[in-house]
Amino acid sequence: MTSTATTVGTFHFSNCLMNAAGIHCYTRKELADIDASMAGSFVTKTGTLNERAGNPEPRYFDTDLGSINSMGLPNLGIDYYLEYVTELEKNPDNKPHFLSLVGLSPDETHLILKKVQDSDYQGLVELNLSCPNVPGKPQIAYDFEATEKLLSEAFSYYTKPLGVKLPPYFDIVHFDQAAAIFNQFPLVFVNCVNSIGNGLVISDETVVIKPKDGFGGIGGDYIKPTALANVHAFYKRLNPSIKIIGTGGVKTGRDAFEHILCGASMVQVGTALHQEGVAIFERITNELKAIMAEKGYETIEDFRGQLKTL
Ligand code: SIN
Repeated sequence: MTSTATTVGTFHFSNCLMNAAGIHCYTRKELADIDASMAGSFVTKTGTLNERAGNPEPRYFDTDLGSINSMGLPNLGIDYYLEYVTELEKNPDNKPHFLSLVGLSPDETHLILKKVQDSDYQGLVELNLSCPNVPGKPQIAYDFEATEKLLSEAFSYYTKPLGVKLPPYFDIVHFDQAAAIFNQFPLVFVNCVNSIGNGLVISDETVVIKPKDGFGGIGGDYIKPTALANVHAFYKRLNPSIKIIGTGGVKTGRDAFEHILCGASMVQVGTALHQEGVAIFERITNELKAIMAEKGYETIEDFRGQLKTL
């Protein structure tokens, strides 16, 4: 019997596929849609301390090869998402979930993490170190010193399961430096990758989104090779207790298979979920299972990380 079940930390998931933060996860209704689908879990929209309207529209645009967005972290505030995942967690039959969060400053991030630490929620948290779209706020994980300080301070009081969402890195030295930092901490996972920040898509003579004069995060087909490289680079470098979540360019079972081959324990769907809706989880799961069956793999552990080189 072919199974796509997986484990992250002490959490077991009946399916390794789920949404990427930002897609179909703004309201309880959207999150409940994912929960009712074949996805193994959901991650919430990244919650900030207070509700945010985000950037002016249009702020998301689909292209033939993917998408560009500059949403600017619109969200209903951390309390909204924390209350929902805490409520769901009370029923042991429910799937485990991921609560995504970040502050607009280190102090705000600590306020939010302390709120979660003091709450009843015992589940997974994804600290978003990689949003490229808030004007004036650089992607935290591109500043290694700030990242190390933030994690060091956070782990001085935070004792619940925590992972980080990373931007793509593009240099071998940066993979080495980032991994050396993450290996110092009891992270449960790293999620590779958020969108490739600050791309530009043009229609005729004009940009297609309004914020930041058209600059925005690129997702979809454009980013799969970069995502796979980041998943594999961190799989090779991180302590085996730190699981990898693979995100970027996943729209078929073959894409999910490649992420797992590179080392991913879970695989998130972003742009393609936005384009196809939650039924995509059933299609990708069936395609992935068909590939596994053809190759004689019964579980994802049979091939996870087993990418061959020449
Ligand atoms: C956004 O809200 O701008 C997208 C979220 C992200 O890239 O982290």
